[in-house]
Amino acid sequence: MRDNNLDWAHLSFGYIPTDYNVRCTFKDGKWGEIEVSQSETINMHIAATALHYGQEIFEGLKAFRGADGKVRIFRLEENAKRIVESAKGVMMEPVPVELFKKMVVEAVKLNSRFIPPYGSGASLYIRPIELGMSAQIGVNPSTEYVFMVLVTPVGPYFKEGFKPTNICIMREYDRVAPKGTGRWKVGGNYAASLDAGVKAHDLGYSAVLYLDPREKKYVDECGPANFFAIKDGKYITPASESILPSVTNNSIMQLARDMGIAVEERHIPLEELSQIQEAGACGTAAVASPVAEIHDLDNGTKYIVSKDGQPGEITTKLYNRLRAIQLGEEPDTHGWNTIVEGI
Ligand code: PLP
Ligand code: COI
Repeated sequence: MRDNNLDWAHLSFGYIPTDYNVRCTFKDGKWGEIEVSQSETINMHIAATALHYGQEIFEGLKAFRGADGKVRIFRLEENAKRIVESAKGVMMEPVPVELFKKMVVEAVKLNSRFIPPYGSGASLYIRPIELGMSAQIGVNPSTEYVFMVLVTPVGPYFKEGFKPTNICIMREYDRVAPKGTGRWKVGGNYAASLDAGVKAHDLGYSAVLYLDPREKKYVDECGPANFFAIKDGKYITPASESILPSVTNNSIMQLARDMGIAVEERHIPLEELSQIQEAGACGTAAVASPVAEIHDLDNGTKYIVSKDGQPGEITTKLYNRLRAIQLGEEPDTHGWNTIVEGI
């Protein structure tokens, strides 16, 4: 048995081995039985399409131990639907929604002793991943796939937690092409972001704020998260064909509307950053991480979003409400949580 004697309150966003992962193979035109594995490795063909031609997609979602002791998976259905879109985007076999849900629940149940306790601030990160497995040397889609779900306990993605950090703009990099793979969760998008991300970190920034890859006029995405801002009491967030439709952003927009805050999903011209009062990066890993300053490294412009270095009032309200729903502290009025029974 692997060690679960962890310092739950001080986990980083990293990989910690857990007991089991679950796997399912698509072969001869059908999905097989779900297999439970204790191995952290996979055996694959040296010419598999995942290795050569990037047929690799994944998801990210979380399970939480709640105030009432129950375990909740946040918006399972939405991630199940999104990986179907990713699969279609790069010609992979879509994982049926019910299979996805069953495997995620099973992976959480099997590793229940790794779900961080309520109050620790940590959660169980769930990483479903699908790979093209059959051998191709011509550029063609695979005929065989494996879908796996692994889980690992995590702390905050930005080490500062819920404290404003600085982000930067660098025009020499694009994460994705205008009509490329940005709207899907394809591994290659992250490879394309590594150089810029490491450079930004080395310069002391928590993430890169990408501009739209066609014109570099509008705000697009913030590292591995969507970008949002509060302007004159309104929640604004980019509408763009090159960003990942974030489940967290979708949830926060709903919470904002519930609170009577107007929501605008639209192009955000770069210059508008000088008129915003709050900003944040939102995603499963990032949750809603407040932004302090945005530095345009190409022309030296500094957008000072948080004048006092504190998270903004609306960002804080939205963050608290989201967390409270995930942790079962407040009613789940939209039915977003899947309660995992028996653990
Ligand atoms: N954008 C990118 C590029 C991401 O990797 C993620 C993380 O999943 C998000 C946005 C946020 O999406 P979600 O809220 O569904 O986790
Ligand atoms: C997530 O928020 O789930 C992500 O996938 C972001 C990342 C760590 C790649």
